[in-house]
Amino acid sequence: MNFTYHNPTAIEFGEGKIYSMTKYIDKSKRILVVYGGGSIKGNGVYDQVDGALEDYTWFEFSGVEPNPTIETMNKAIQIIKDKKIDFVLAVGGGSVIDGCKYLVAAALYDGDGWDFVNGTKKVNKAIDLGVILTLPATGSESNSGSVMTKKSTTEKRAFMSPYLYPKFAILDPLTMITLNDRQLGNGLVDAFVHTCEQYLTYPNTSLVNDGYAETILKGLVALSDSWDRRDETIWQENLMWLANQALNGLIGTGVPQDWATHMIGHELTAFYDIDHARTLAVVQPQLLRVMSKEKAEKIALMGRNVFGIIDDNEKVIIEIEKIYQKVGISTKLNDYKIDNKVIANVTNGLKEKNMSTLGEKGEITLEKVTDILTKAMY
Ligand code: NZQ
Ligand code: ZN
Repeated sequence: MNFTYHNPTAIEFGEGKIYSMTKYIDKSKRILVVYGGGSIKGNGVYDQVDGALEDYTWFEFSGVEPNPTIETMNKAIQIIKDKKIDFVLAVGGGSVIDGCKYLVAAALYDGDGWDFVNGTKKVNKAIDLGVILTLPATGSESNSGSVMTKKSTTEKRAFMSPYLYPKFAILDPLTMITLNDRQLGNGLVDAFVHTCEQYLTYPNTSLVNDGYAETILKGLVALSDSWDRRDETIWQENLMWLANQALNGLIGTGVPQDWATHMIGHELTAFYDIDHARTLAVVQPQLLRVMSKEKAEKIALMGRNVFGIIDDNEKVIIEIEKIYQKVGISTKLNDYKIDNKVIANVTNGLKEKNMSTLGEKGEITLEKVTDILTKAMY
């Protein structure tokens, strides 16, 4: 065990917390409020932001799309320059937050911001960022990662930098009242797979990480079991906190991590516009089957400590599939709009990004990806 752990994002959690952002933003700041397609106007979030920023100078930029593109976010760079913006407030889900993480770095960079995303340049400064979360799923509100799409080349890539941690994140479960089943199910599945990516690898010696990961997994299983109570605040606030804890960096610190499901999933979204969480539900169970020998000990541990299953790893994978199905998400690739080039598109996309070997030990080759996607079809 040998690591640095530093998560600098302040979290304000609970009903009615949106106003508390004012204590983190100096009155002298010139703020750009960034949001997506307008859901924040239907649930009172926009009005609360408007009220809280009464004494501030602020401007707005909207239209950030799910799976945010640099083509859209680059349009906001000019506003930042023209209006001399020195604080960006992201109001939305993972897409708005990720788009803003790109924006706060790209706006202070003379070159093409995609350089950060494809890894040719490291972020070394960024405008201050704050977040009001409206969709619990990605954990982006208090992590250092962002996933951006370049429409012109059909590329979707993740990048990270310590400069991208938001200064604060407001997690008010009342913002969730307008979420539909599709987004709630997506959020639960994304958080579940985030936890698995940092847990279902090979045994480690830490007495913290697995135990905490199992607590998060059990919480998400409980929410899937009480799916019919998803309109209740207790259900929603638990999803909000669980999804945050699943990807704020803690459970992955100092232990092996996988992320192959995510890398394959990002290709499916780039080519076929399938919701992020749905790509994970398709890929992960089959990946666990293809890698069942390599991951045997951790799948068995999850069976014992999360599901109470002893010595039956296939049953554990079936239980995982049931969770996704319970929240209305198909685990079959053929239930989504794809074409017969899907495997070639995904494997070529990975190859072009130098991702021909994935997983905690680099053992998931393109042949294995082909096997995973073939099994995932039906
Ligand atoms: O555009 P708006 O109006 O905001 O509507 C959104 C969007 O249509 C809507 N929505 C959000 N909050 C709502 C709401 N609708 C009603 N009421 C509310 N309170 O939901 C739709 C989807 O939003 P989006 O932000 O795209 O969803 P999510 O939070 O799942 O984010 C997905 C993106 O995050 C990336 C994914 O790849 C994808 O691009 N990820 C980011 C990660 C990170 N930065 O750490 C990790 C993840 O693994 C993931 O890859
Ligand atoms: Zn994810």
